[in-house]
Amino acid sequence: MWPYPKLLAHRGGGILAPENTLAALRAGARAGYRAVEFDVMLAADAVPVLMHDEHFGRTVAGTGRVAATPSVVLAQMDAGSWFGPAFAGEPVALYRDAVDYCRENGLWMNVEIKPAQGAGSKTGEVVAALTRQWLGADGSGGVLFSSFSIIALQAAQAIAPDIPRGLLVRALPDDWQELMASLQAFSLHIADAGLSEAIVQQVRAAGYPVFCYTVNSRRRARQLSGWGVDAICTDRIDRIAADFA
Ligand code: G3P
Ligand code: MG
Repeated sequence: MWPYPKLLAHRGGGILAPENTLAALRAGARAGYRAVEFDVMLAADAVPVLMHDEHFGRTVAGTGRVAATPSVVLAQMDAGSWFGPAFAGEPVALYRDAVDYCRENGLWMNVEIKPAQGAGSKTGEVVAALTRQWLGADGSGGVLFSSFSIIALQAAQAIAPDIPRGLLVRALPDDWQELMASLQAFSLHIADAGLSEAIVQQVRAAGYPVFCYTVNSRRRARQLSGWGVDAICTDRIDRIAADFA
């Protein structure tokens, strides 16, 4: 059901490097991971960058919004110091550079489309169009989009219907089957806390692989795998060996 790697490094490199940076992707690859999840948001000039939070303050110092900052400025901002002095000066990564790195290093990508408030449609559209352009028709096996934003997924579906989509949820919504069908979604991505064996069975019986985030213990990863969960993403790339599954 899931022809992709079963284990993904969350935000690129889990706990080993500052999230959503090229350093994180390098850490994931170095740990032997063959697949990564990372978050993508648009800068003010509609250039996609790797970023989780809409506002500065956590991984990038200061105040302000990613969506109000041009990508050339973002690409000079320090997204590494918060994590540790060894990563001081590690810049905010451009999506383009992340895609290139993943392709060059054989990393399969779960691109989480993470729109800023009100930018769902535009973000889905731009990320899908650029991904399609960069990867070409033959490269779409190397990427899967996911998002909490239905609007972003709909936009991606319209622009690049052949790039698979995962519906991302914290818990299973009542109308999940209608949503999956209308999005022509490939997989369901659900939080560990929102998951039960019955849900795994129900979703898989409907023909959809189940992806679970964020699983940080080996024991839990094994249990989920036993339930039939198809893929997990983890921060503990130091603890859960890349060849776990
Ligand atoms: O895609 C799974 C996971 O990354 C969703 O949560 O907040 O870590 O982006 P978050
Ligand atoms: Mg994410």
